[in-house]
Amino acid sequence: MIGIGLLGLGTVGAGVVEILNKRQEELKALTGKDIEIKKVLVKDINKKREIDLGENIITSDFEEIINHEDISIIVELTGDLEQSYRYIKRALNSGRDVVTANKAVVSKHFEELSSSAAEKNLGFLYEASVGGGIPILKPLQEALTLNNITVVQGILNGTCNYILTKMFYEGLDYGEVLKTAQELGYAEADPTADVEGYDTLRKLRILGTLALQGEIREEDILLEGISKITAFDIEQIKKMKSTVKLIGEAKELDEGFTAVVQPTIIKEDSYFANVNMAFNSVVFSGDNVGELKFYGSGAGKLPTANAVLSDVVDIIMGSYIKRNPLGERKLKNLNTRIKGEY
Ligand code: NDP
Ligand code: HSE
Repeated sequence: MIGIGLLGLGTVGAGVVEILNKRQEELKALTGKDIEIKKVLVKDINKKREIDLGENIITSDFEEIINHEDISIIVELTGDLEQSYRYIKRALNSGRDVVTANKAVVSKHFEELSSSAAEKNLGFLYEASVGGGIPILKPLQEALTLNNITVVQGILNGTCNYILTKMFYEGLDYGEVLKTAQELGYAEADPTADVEGYDTLRKLRILGTLALQGEIREEDILLEGISKITAFDIEQIKKMKSTVKLIGEAKELDEGFTAVVQPTIIKEDSYFANVNMAFNSVVFSGDNVGELKFYGSGAGKLPTANAVLSDVVDIIMGSYIKRNPLGERKLKNLNTRIKGEY
């Protein structure tokens, strides 16, 4: 039996419970183990919930989880930056493997948490933190074994892409579409992180650091979100037979890098122009493998929960790359506010 301590029972946490319940038998056949959620941490113990987990499973006391002797994997899905850092550190220090979808905590504490897990020979996996349901970090790490990757770019935020698509094709108002994105479970608890680009920046920090094998910090990335884009801007962009997308790109150049998140005008017949709604896409190329494109659901309950559970299965089966994923190259920040080829 594998005991899970689930931290968070919101959109993604509920998806994890739903898939686990539905696929229990298949997962047992695959892993040879019963996977059981032993405890679930929430903030508000009195909140009405659609999921019935049975007696004594839900708690608001992390101590009950960390001291539970049958829990060997902690799945962190709270979205809380400060607390989640403490939860993850305590989980690793107590010898538990960790899976998280929380890009804020991975981005902020990437080097420390990755090294801590690697030193202890524990799994620290975060596939769902970038690209929602798209398997991207695992293929990227596999590609890195044999390739040098010098550019990674993508549409990395489902909420922004949903808003821009609805504004572009349906002429809808920004505020109205943001509300729908929240109702659909795409947006962060504080949607400022989405529309001002911080969420994309965090994902680019993770992707860029992995792809270029050298640290790109949050503060190294030039950032502009989508909140200032108006209906007038959209009309002008349409006249240019183009569309607009929030693109994150990290690129290696002459022992250094550039890393930028910004709304970008894209010709209507180019690849990213056809990535719409809450879909995400990531493109990178390796010197051997050439260009690779990843496309799929970038947010939402079941796609994200699926990525989380794939990590859980990888930990149970030991089928993840067991080396510290971070390179040690020191790359110089070559960002400039003077825009180049965009
Ligand atoms: P929600 O806001 O829907 O759910 C958060 C859950 O965590 C709630 O159950 C909440 O408790 C609990 N919680 C929040 N803070 C704490 C805390 N300090 N201690 C204990 N429990 C806490 O978030 P999502 O499910 O949408 O997202 C979870 C994580 O997954 C985030 O990091 C997010 O960025 C990431 N993610 C989300 C995606 C999505 O499409 N939604 C896609 C990819 C990643 P309570 O229920 O009592 O309020
Ligand atoms: N708020 C995020 C988004 C969730 O809209 O892309 C997925 O990371």
